[in-house]
Amino acid sequence: MLARHAGKITGIAAALSPVGGLTGCAGMQSALDPAGHEAQELYLLFLGMCAGGAVVFISVVSLLIYAVHHQRRVHSDRVVARLILWGTVTTVAVLTVLLTFSLALWPGLRPVQAEGQPAIEITVTGHQFWWDVRYQTPDGQAVVVAANEVRLPVGERVFLTLESADMIHSFWIPALAGKMDMVPGRSTHLSLLATRPGVFRGPCAEYCGTSHALMAFSAVAMEPAAFTAWLAARRMPSPTAQAAGLQAFLSNGCGGCHTISGTEARGKIGPDLSHVGSRETIGAGILPNTVQSIARFIKEPDTIKPGVRMPSFRMLPDEEIAGIAQYLKGLQ
Ligand code: CUA
Repeated sequence: MLARHAGKITGIAAALSPVGGLTGCAGMQSALDPAGHEAQELYLLFLGMCAGGAVVFISVVSLLIYAVHHQRRVHSDRVVARLILWGTVTTVAVLTVLLTFSLALWPGLRPVQAEGQPAIEITVTGHQFWWDVRYQTPDGQAVVVAANEVRLPVGERVFLTLESADMIHSFWIPALAGKMDMVPGRSTHLSLLATRPGVFRGPCAEYCGTSHALMAFSAVAMEPAAFTAWLAARRMPSPTAQAAGLQAFLSNGCGGCHTISGTEARGKIGPDLSHVGSRETIGAGILPNTVQSIARFIKEPDTIKPGVRMPSFRMLPDEEIAGIAQYLKGLQ
């Protein structure tokens, strides 16, 4: 029954969407512009609660106006008793409808993994102030490591295991689903089902230190075939023609913290930089992924992201930084 009404409610929402557009409710980081199954359920919950809240507000204001205009008239005991009765009945009815409505949406908000159902499994670990992302390949044979970007196929359920290496962070892609805390020492889980392709933004939703507000990632929903090809390509080392840039990267010790597949760089402290050139952003959702941004981040990560663990490399000549940046951008 709820499903039948869901269509109607979505229709009303679609009619109101130009209003949403005008007030800035659309966009890559909006729960009011859903692109995932769970976000759609939450959107229905939001509309239902707004409608319920409007009914309560209008009723209370109407009663207030009534009371102000009839302040001098003394009601009989019978009228007073009736007002109290109907006030109670209306309150209970509104709360019952809202509670039933929200409980009916519950199963769709936290779906459990069906037995034997093949699913894409991704482990995301929160760090101050970036995200480590590991994909289990469908054959179960390999783990593809990436950072600061979560890719997922449209129309296929993805199961996420969420962990933290230091503080409590919170994983949230408003356009796709609700948020889930990442707690040190334990694993939490979240399930996503993207319903249309697109690039969305995921902010960290739990205060985790100085650069909490600068800890974000891109969520890229791709067509299933494109996702499979992308994941297969990520199992190969990044192709590169920038031998000088790689040399500068290694000789300045960058490989002590970062890994680049197919090279001697095997560090585990910072984000994995294999294929970093193909990511949407640099610095965990902070800068557009360009050679200039990468160079700027190498030179002064502390001014772009206060509290970052990466040391600044201001002492390097600009040409050397540019060479490393060009090499990294070339890792497609
Ligand atoms: Cu990580 Cu806030």
